[in-house]
Amino acid sequence: MSAIRTSISTTARHYRPSQTAVLCLPTAASRRRLSSTSTQEPTSSKKKLKPLTETQKEFLSSALRVNQAGELAATLIYTAQTPPLLSREPHLRPLMKHMYDQEAAHLSTFNTLIAKHRVRPTALYPLWSVLSTGLGWSTAMLGKEAAMACTEAVETEIGGHYNAQIRTLLEMVSEWEAEGYEVGQELKELISTLRRIRDEELEHLDHAVEHDAQKAQPHWLLTGVIRAGCRGAIWVSERV
Ligand SMILES: [Fe+2]
Ligand SMILES: [Fe+2]
Repeated sequence: MSAIRTSISTTARHYRPSQTAVLCLPTAASRRRLSSTSTQEPTSSKKKLKPLTETQKEFLSSALRVNQAGELAATLIYTAQTPPLLSREPHLRPLMKHMYDQEAAHLSTFNTLIAKHRVRPTALYPLWSVLSTGLGWSTAMLGKEAAMACTEAVETEIGGHYNAQIRTLLEMVSEWEAEGYEVGQELKELISTLRRIRDEELEHLDHAVEHDAQKAQPHWLLTGVIRAGCRGAIWVSERV
């Protein structure tokens, strides 16, 4: 966790968004705007937008697809965990509701973004749904510590995943600014959204540790298996 925190701090320090930047993800409207602006020469008073390369478009599509799949999984994990967990630990109701509500808001955000930018959702939606529900239910049946270890493992991977996306986008922005291009408002907003969601995921990680995640037995095996599963699911969802 401390490594992630350090990395986040580094990213935040390096992020100096231009106040004049304007940026576009490839919606139909933005594509028209890009095609019209990309033929104009930059002037001293108004910089031009740089069209996204195919690689950048693929990165953004893949990022939105995997993020939506991950947030769906998170809502399903908490949905499955909550009844068995609260039957034995009713005092956890406010915490579970708080984390679920944030995950539902994250999912809503990415549902909106993939629809807006016409990104194909992962084809493995049904598989991730079954696995997430099974993971949530089974860890909650093992007890509070295992349920919290599940959150600890998932959020460790997801925090790092969002951090990597943010780093890539900031590098893209820096290159554009160095080349004298403007950065569209939509990309600036996406980076800001990812940073907020990443911080909320890491807040969940802190809650899990505070609620005895590391007392789960065997902690190393449980978190190791779940983290490996998360990495596999992320890798596949970026591509399929
Ligand atoms: Fe989330
Ligand atoms: Fe989360």
